[in-house]
Amino acid sequence: MTGRIPDAFLDELVSRSDIVDIIAARVPLKKAGREYKACCPFHNEKSPSFSVSAEKQFYHCFGCGAHGTVIGFLMQYEKMEFLDAVADLAQRAGLELPREAQAPRDSGSADLHELMQQAARFFEQNLADNPRAQAYVRRRGLEAKIGTRFGLGYAPDAWEALLKRFGTNEEERRRLFQVGLVLERSGGGGERTGGFYDRFRDRLMFPIRDSRGRVIGFGGRVIDQGEPKYMNSPETPLFHKGRELYGLYEARQARGDFKRLLIVEGYMDVVRLHQAGITYAVATLGTATTQEHLNKIFRQTHEVVFCFDGDRAGLKAAWRALENALPLARDGREIKFMFLPEGHDPDTLVADEGAEAFESRIKDALPLSEYLVQQLIAEVDLDHVDGRAKLKALAGPLFGRMPEGIYREMLADRLASRVGMPANKLKEFFTAGQPKRAGSPPELPARQRGRISVGRGNLLTQAITLVLHHPAAAGVIEDPELLGSLNKAGVSVLKELLEQAATAASASTATLLERWRDRPEHARLTQLAMLDPLVADTPAAAKELKMAVEKLLQEYGPGRRMDELLKKAQELGLNYEEKAELSSLLKSKGRP
Ligand code: GTP
Ligand code: MN
Repeated sequence: MTGRIPDAFLDELVSRSDIVDIIAARVPLKKAGREYKACCPFHNEKSPSFSVSAEKQFYHCFGCGAHGTVIGFLMQYEKMEFLDAVADLAQRAGLELPREAQAPRDSGSADLHELMQQAARFFEQNLADNPRAQAYVRRRGLEAKIGTRFGLGYAPDAWEALLKRFGTNEEERRRLFQVGLVLERSGGGGERTGGFYDRFRDRLMFPIRDSRGRVIGFGGRVIDQGEPKYMNSPETPLFHKGRELYGLYEARQARGDFKRLLIVEGYMDVVRLHQAGITYAVATLGTATTQEHLNKIFRQTHEVVFCFDGDRAGLKAAWRALENALPLARDGREIKFMFLPEGHDPDTLVADEGAEAFESRIKDALPLSEYLVQQLIAEVDLDHVDGRAKLKALAGPLFGRMPEGIYREMLADRLASRVGMPANKLKEFFTAGQPKRAGSPPELPARQRGRISVGRGNLLTQAITLVLHHPAAAGVIEDPELLGSLNKAGVSVLKELLEQAATAASASTATLLERWRDRPEHARLTQLAMLDPLVADTPAAAKELKMAVEKLLQEYGPGRRMDELLKKAQELGLNYEEKAELSSLLKSKGRP
């Protein structure tokens, strides 16, 4: 998504926004040396381990590991989406959002959003005017207040109600079609309305809002009985089912610093739970929970509870959710499962037993690890010879989907103790023969703390760290292109960073990191950005950087091979292949 916003704009945005101002407006910061300190807003603590660096334009908590740029802070603290954080900062800095950042608002989609908004208002008005629909809403136990909060409406029992109101000319009708509010007649007819008719008729309407509160789609339920019970907007330029969560906007509006999100299945469940004060309930739109959903959720909170019916279908759906959630199971995240008594859904249960009892069920939800182990154990008979083999066949691939980390370790330990096998054995048993995960730069050590200086540790890592910490020093490397010829994995990261630092008017650690936000190297670079500075200031950094790059060129550059060949030519003479190699090396150096 970031790819759509020009780098130059992000650079300018980040450098015009002072992270210290933005954070200080929300968290009381105290100056401490070169940095600012506070008690971390992202976990509970008594002594401050949250620090903000004005120099790097970066924050970091030594307690819980939270970290990021000013954009990252807004995403984490205000639970904003990336584009919203960008829009917010842009407005504050007086910068006009580039067209790319307004997408999908450009190319007429501002109009489309407006149209959806008008349609939502139209449906709301119709609900206010329709006693039958109102009676249904009351019968479902919904109060007027909650209806307003969710913008519930009613689509009239007519073929052309919306169409007549908003589709007075061909262009308007096209737009109604584009947002999925009308359908095209197959057999012609309907002259006055250009061959279209309303998609939603005689239905209770649930507007689906995006993270900024704009209506992007609708769900419509029949009043009382009928088929299909629910109807959703189709995929449109504004609406992508697999990405949206019904109720997320409302949950954020409710502003209870929600500790968790509860994922339920239905529209009605969400609305009913919010009414009961469980305002952290959201629903997928009739689809399984995708990784895109989960990524969205984990930007808001670190705990997610899946809520399923206790029947067979519910169990199946839970297992699918578990499989999708595994790759995202990381330290510091909690993923839980709860199952409702058969014959109940959250809507009926909360009506039956009240919010408090329902919340205590949420508290008792099974952690993913427990659920997983429980299900695995239920599947295999460990007293049987082939029980272990079966366990391996079942659990191996599941473990393979999880990122390495404490979470996976814990899960292995838990399973080990249940099957009566040493944890080490079990881990070996699972991970043997699994391919290493690709996609990270090979040369950057994952965790490196404290000071490193040139001469110690990995040269390339040091050079990268120096550029990240002191982008202004990058100018000392006049020709980063030279690095392109190096025969060393990961060197392209350095080359690119040098070029980015040199071309940006006011590069900082944060502007550089933002350039990498969507790339696999981002996590590693962020870790390096968090290290203590290697040197005190830019001139010192420039000196060290120059040395490091020269060493890299010496060690891995073509020059080294050339010297070798020249020496050999003088002393022993070269064979045919060596001559050819030397001549091409000389040519590439611009010598005759
Ligand atoms: P109520 O009967 O109003 O309480 O609905 P519910 O929310 O309990 O619905 P249910 O558990 O039957 O279904 C859960 C979700 O699945 C709904 O909110 C819809 O998103 C979706 N769904 C249910 N029935 C249909 C249908 O007939 N068509 C489509 N497209 N989606 C449906
Ligand atoms: Mn229901």
